[in-house]
Amino acid sequence: MSKIRCAVVGIGNCFAGLVQGIEYYRQHPEQEVIGVMHAKIGPYSIHDIEFVAGFDVGENKIGKTINQAIYEYPNLVNWIPKDTMQKTTGKVYETPALDGVGIWVENKIKPIKSKKTNEQLTNEIKKILKENNVEIIISYLPVGSEKATKFWAQICLDAKVAFVNCMPSFIASEPEWAKKFEKAGIPIIGDDIKSMVGATIVHRSLARLCDMRGTKIEKTYQINVGGNADFLNMKEQSRLQSKKISKTESVQSQLRQRLPDDQIYVGPSDFIPFLGNTKLMFMRIEGRMWANVPFNMEVRLEVDDKANSAGIVIDAIRYCRLALDRKISGPLIGPSAWLMKHPPKQFSDDEAKRLTDEFISGSIARQ
Ligand SMILES: NC(=O)c1ccc[n+]([C@@H]2O[C@H](COP(=O)([O-])OP(=O)(O)OC[C@H]3O[C@@H](n4cnc5c(N)ncnc54)[C@H](O)[C@@H]3O)[C@@H](O)[C@H]2O)c1
Repeated sequence: MSKIRCAVVGIGNCFAGLVQGIEYYRQHPEQEVIGVMHAKIGPYSIHDIEFVAGFDVGENKIGKTINQAIYEYPNLVNWIPKDTMQKTTGKVYETPALDGVGIWVENKIKPIKSKKTNEQLTNEIKKILKENNVEIIISYLPVGSEKATKFWAQICLDAKVAFVNCMPSFIASEPEWAKKFEKAGIPIIGDDIKSMVGATIVHRSLARLCDMRGTKIEKTYQINVGGNADFLNMKEQSRLQSKKISKTESVQSQLRQRLPDDQIYVGPSDFIPFLGNTKLMFMRIEGRMWANVPFNMEVRLEVDDKANSAGIVIDAIRYCRLALDRKISGPLIGPSAWLMKHPPKQFSDDEAKRLTDEFISGSIARQ
């Protein structure tokens, strides 16, 4: 069985968490692998994934090997001491910045002053993907990178490489792009990671519970704060349009009757530097029950945002490989609904899990 050969776009905190988590279990083989939904998907364990190339715009990351680049500023994940991290041969290469770098993070990312045209870089990228036999590209681009996301979706189509879109620019859930992936014969999972026990799944599960139990939700909000580059980038309101749609629709989709737009607020709300990768979520639901009597609930969730996302992506990669093995193309409907906030089709989380289990067993293709 060959390893799953992946390339990653955006060597930030999420990827650092994914790689260091795999390394953690490699260094602790006696430990049960927790924080992941499946020890094995088909024949694939978490150790069957190889990151053979990375792409970024940060001058301090480009040219380094992946095992070095994941520790570079402004990344914060440090679960495994740098000197004990297993060495990788995969390197980080330059890619066009396009709209990837927002105003708040520019002085932290320090994008390389490129001497190459976008056309030259595109040709180089395709060559790197081919030379390294890349099968799957994982995009961890910053929120608001609409052009850069489309650039990478097109690279996937041209190079016939599967795509896992972890961020909220819509590709898998955009019918035109979805059709292109289907036609090109390659699978895609997206869009926007729904973290393991994150703000979205907690909020939508509780909203659904209230709805199913017969109460009437009248208003709800969810606010999130954090202290990493992702949250700093999200201070730029103009980059947030698709993130807000992704997060809001994920909750709305669980209600029998949609809430009026002005009675639901779901969004990242601020950057608090000393929180680092700790993310805090505050959620409130207000509604009415029997005899029109009011009720409300509040939840505060505190998580390491990167541990929370890596366990999802490690499954997404293995679903894509199963699809490649089975020659399934286009958006993977069940896995996208289970793992992502803005999939091509929303289901309840129970239903999405059932569809995903059936996908693994092979009893359904992609839906
Ligand atoms: N729980 C979670 O962490 C979670 C959940 C859902 C979605 N996401 C999304 O995943 C994405 C990655 O999150 P993160 O915390 O790793 O972000 P990050 O800011 O730490 O990393 C982003 C990386 O992308 C690089 N970059 C910027 N422009 C680029 C370009 N044009 N090409 C290639 N690289 C470029 C930056 O230099 C940086 O290394 C974000 O969009 C985030 O919203 C994360």
